[in-house]
Amino acid sequence: TLQSLPESSPTYRFDDDGEEYADIKWDELGFGLVQTDYMYIMKCSNEGEVFTRGELNPYGNIEMSPCSGVLNYGQGLFEGLKAYRKRDGNILLFRPEQNAMRLQMGAERMCMPSPSIDQFIDAVKQTVQANKRWVPPPGKGSLYIRPLLLGTGPVLGISPARECTFITYASPVGNYFKEGIAPLNLVIEETMHRANPGGTGGVKTITNYAPVLKALTHAKSMGFSDVIYLDSVQKKYIEELSSCNIFIVKGNRISTPPTKGTILPGITRKSIIDIAIDQGYQVEERAIEVEELIDADEVFCTGTAVVVAPVGSITFRSKRYEYKTGAGTTSVKLHSILTCIQSGRIEDKMGWTVEL
Ligand code: COI
Repeated sequence: TLQSLPESSPTYRFDDDGEEYADIKWDELGFGLVQTDYMYIMKCSNEGEVFTRGELNPYGNIEMSPCSGVLNYGQGLFEGLKAYRKRDGNILLFRPEQNAMRLQMGAERMCMPSPSIDQFIDAVKQTVQANKRWVPPPGKGSLYIRPLLLGTGPVLGISPARECTFITYASPVGNYFKEGIAPLNLVIEETMHRANPGGTGGVKTITNYAPVLKALTHAKSMGFSDVIYLDSVQKKYIEELSSCNIFIVKGNRISTPPTKGTILPGITRKSIIDIAIDQGYQVEERAIEVEELIDADEVFCTGTAVVVAPVGSITFRSKRYEYKTGAGTTSVKLHSILTCIQSGRIEDKMGWTVEL
């Protein structure tokens, strides 16, 4: 059963159709935390090595040992998925089972037990249902759901934590980049790398993200939106950005780097590949040399947070290369099909959406 709402909860507002919405400025959403009412928590101790029963709690701070695996050695994973409100007021999740499976793969790599697929989807559904008034009205954004799997038990020497905690919270969001839907300006990062062969670049561990802060912050201070990382061995193949995957378009051919351990297997990436094939594009997952960016027609990025973002320019060794953006481009077409499926505006032939 739900516990009472936190005292600070904003008042409810009813729209014309009688739907309940939180009283916030829906037109001003960016990608920052807006606290919602509830989060879901489920614990697992090594005794049984399985998660048993979780429950909703009021959204708030959590307590853990200062000696926990996650705080000391970064034993943690996260996921990201979105819930969209349809025009009829119902709510759609996009491919939640894919996030559940990716979390399981990551848990195996990080020596943690993970929730079953059903437990994961149930936690996500309960979190969205309990925070329903925070799912933006159609066309105003989405509810971003952030599941976390953390080693919360104490570990002084390096070893897997004996207690793990699965938490799911949510926040309404708009566009990820401050550019909104305007094209991104990227820069190639040549000295810092995001991932190494044999490392954890292919799973969504929290430890992949703090190390990008230095390159990202520097790029932003120079006016760029994000950086493109190169492979750490030959230093000539593009990998991904700090926050999303990358695609290039040349004529009818769409290419993206293969997910062979150093690239995050994005669920939006995978969905865009399927949509592009269905639309008659030739899609290739292959190593892409940085030089190839120079004569691409279009470049775009994909991610749950980012959705499909067009790239207007890439700067490489102080030279700026520009790409087609706007009406009639491949990225606009793919963005439109994806978001129409996600928000229930076109038929979901792929069977990707899950109605709450
Ligand atoms: C997502 O797209 O869901 C991510 O996890 C990327 C994150 C940097 C916001």
